[in-house]
Amino acid sequence: MADNIITIDGPSGVGKSTISRKVAVFQGFTYLDTGAMYRAVGLHIVNNGVDESSKEALKKCLESIEITLIPAKTETDDVGVLLFGKDVSKEIRTPEMAMVASRVSAIPLVRQKLTEMQRMIGSKGAIVAEGRDTGTVVFPGAANKFYLDAKADVRADRRVRQLELSGKKVDREEILQMIIERDKNDSERTVAPLKKAADAHYIDTSALTIEQVTEKILSLIS
Ligand code: DC
Repeated sequence: MADNIITIDGPSGVGKSTISRKVAVFQGFTYLDTGAMYRAVGLHIVNNGVDESSKEALKKCLESIEITLIPAKTETDDVGVLLFGKDVSKEIRTPEMAMVASRVSAIPLVRQKLTEMQRMIGSKGAIVAEGRDTGTVVFPGAANKFYLDAKADVRADRRVRQLELSGKKVDREEILQMIIERDKNDSERTVAPLKKAADAHYIDTSALTIEQVTEKILSLIS
């Protein structure tokens, strides 16, 4: 059992990032945003027009990829990302890049590469890993696993509020459709689909605040 790894998985818009960051600060662990890594790979593939159906082209593009995660500056900031040393933190956080990340995350070679990178990070220190498969595939031996869930409608409302707070004008219906599509992509793919690990605590966050979920997680950590 790996006592120094906490995994927090669940669908998009469930509050995983904010909650994971808070849990990490409280525990004194490093927060590992695995979604940011899938977004960075998605951006790289799109920017370079890599043929997603060609194993050779994908291998070549993944072999040399350099992704650096920069810890968030404040509790409300996202993790920063450097792709080959270039700051792409803003570019990867758009709803469009989320869809691209969801698409490329179904490619076995992409998952293999990022799983290796994530395990390497995990081997270097205590982490709170957040994503879709961190409890099932990346760190199956983690001692503390959580699966957060909420109805798609509730998640859409939260995402709209979050985007509006950052000054973006959004269409709620469009956001809801994207969430439904991402849920479908992420949970129906063959490799490492979004799924609760058998030994993960399930928390329905629909009627809970970020603070309540964080407290619940902290109270369950053994
Ligand atoms: O958590 P996020 O919204 O930043 O993730 C973007 C996409 O990346 C998500 O729709 C699916 C993919 N992803 C994944 O397949 N596995 C992970 N561990 C994390 C993210």
